[in-house]
Order: sequence, then C-alpha cells, then structure tokens
Amino acid sequence: MKPRDRLRIAMQKSGRLTEPALELLSRCGLTFRQSRDKLFCFGEGEPVDLLLVRDDDIPGLIAQGVCDLGIVGRNVLGEYQLTAGREGAALSEWRPLGFGRCRLSIAVPQELDYHDAVQLNGQRIATSYPGLLGEWLRTRGVQAGVVTLAGSVEIAPRLGTADAICDLVQSGGTLVANQLRETEVLLESEAVLAGPQTLPADERGDLIELLLKRLDGVIQVRE
Ligand code: PRP
Ligand code: ZN
Ligand code: MG
Repeated sequence: MKPRDRLRIAMQKSGRLTEPALELLSRCGLTFRQSRDKLFCFGEGEPVDLLLVRDDDIPGLIAQGVCDLGIVGRNVLGEYQLTAGREGAALSEWRPLGFGRCRLSIAVPQELDYHDAVQLNGQRIATSYPGLLGEWLRTRGVQAGVVTLAGSVEIAPRLGTADAICDLVQSGGTLVANQLRETEVLLESEAVLAGPQTLPADERGDLIELLLKRLDGVIQVRE
C-alpha cells in the first residue's frame, strides 16, 4: 500500500450514526467538501479525509490500514475483535462517543415464560452477532444453536427458523412490532472511536493526538 500523509476516518454512509458523527467531527474543527454520494470526502482545513462505508466494513478497513480511525458501534467493533483473529486483536476502542446508544439483547416470543438463560439450552437463536452471542453463551455454559442472518433477524421466530433472537434494541419498537420481549442484555453499546492498538509512527500519529485532544474537549463540554 502507498504511504499516506493525510489521515483517513471511516464512518457509516447512511444510518443512525451518520449525522451525529458528522456533527462531532465538525465540532472538532473538521470540515469536508460536501460530496457525500461520492463516498470520499476531502477535508478542507486539516489533512483529514472521510470514507463513507457500510458500518460492518469499518473495523476491517482499519485493520487493513486503508483507514486510520473509524466511528462505529461498539457492537460492530466487538464482533470483529472476537471473530477476526489477529486482525481483530490489533484494534481497540479509543473513546466512547456518547451517541448511538443501544443494547445487544436476547429477545424471545412475548408469550414465552422466560426466567433464566438455561432455558436457551437446545434452542436456536438468530443473530447478526455470532461472535458476541457465542461468547455470552459460552460464559454461561449454555448450548444453543446460533443462526447467523445479515438482517431482519426479528422475523426469524415467526418464520420458525429460530426460537429466539439476539439483536440491537434502541427504542424497543422493532421488538414490540414483532411480538418479542427483551430478556437479557449482552452488551451496552454506543458509537466509539476505533483505531489500531498503536499510533502510526509518522505525521498521522501527531494528527491523531491532536484530534483526540480536541475530541476530549468537545466530549467534556457535553457532559
Ligand atoms: C437496528 C436493529 C433493530 C432495530 C432496533 O436495525 O437491528 O432491527 O434497529 O431499533 P428499535 O429498538 O428502535 O426498534 P437498523 O434499523 O439500525 O438496521 P440494520 O439492522 O439494517 O443495521
Ligand atoms: Zn449494520
Ligand atoms: Mg435491524
């Protein structure tokens, strides 16, 4: 890969994190030439550019060195850390960002009398987070089948392809609409700044330190 002298930050192209992430970066003094459909936004002041991608691709882009930092849900970062082997271990959460709060939870059909995780033994659980769910099941000694789906996980129980689900819950509206009830919280999530374990040894490292300083200032003012 060609060496870069500009910093590159990956963030969600369109979704719940997009607007608050752009607002946070602008509070940090970063402005971009408006070309959001172009997926690459050139930074005007500082030498910092944006890459607009699918959120699930962000950890991999950082691990490969295509991007230096990413704004992504803790759930997406955590899943990658658990499932991507050495590449996953090379990433870390640098700062919680205080927006995009949600939980990764288990939910079961409303009529089910759920009171303990042991009831999940022998059940099939649909999820887009097989790594995080698998780890939670292991630590509780529960043997359940994990059905991995890319999306629309909430429909699986009604289709008979799973007995329970493990998905993100924010307002709870999706669960109610699908007659499901939240029973266990596996992870409290929010948007985080993700990056490599160690700073790049060139000017990008200095730039990241400057950004972190500004970010901490902005976050402190908010609290
Ligand atoms: C998430 C999640 C749930 C929903 C929960 O999906 O997968 O489906 O939001 O939010 P609620 O509790 O407020 O109803 P999202 O709409 O972000 O899309 P995605 O699953 O395609 O990423
Ligand atoms: Zn997603
Ligand atoms: Mg969804």
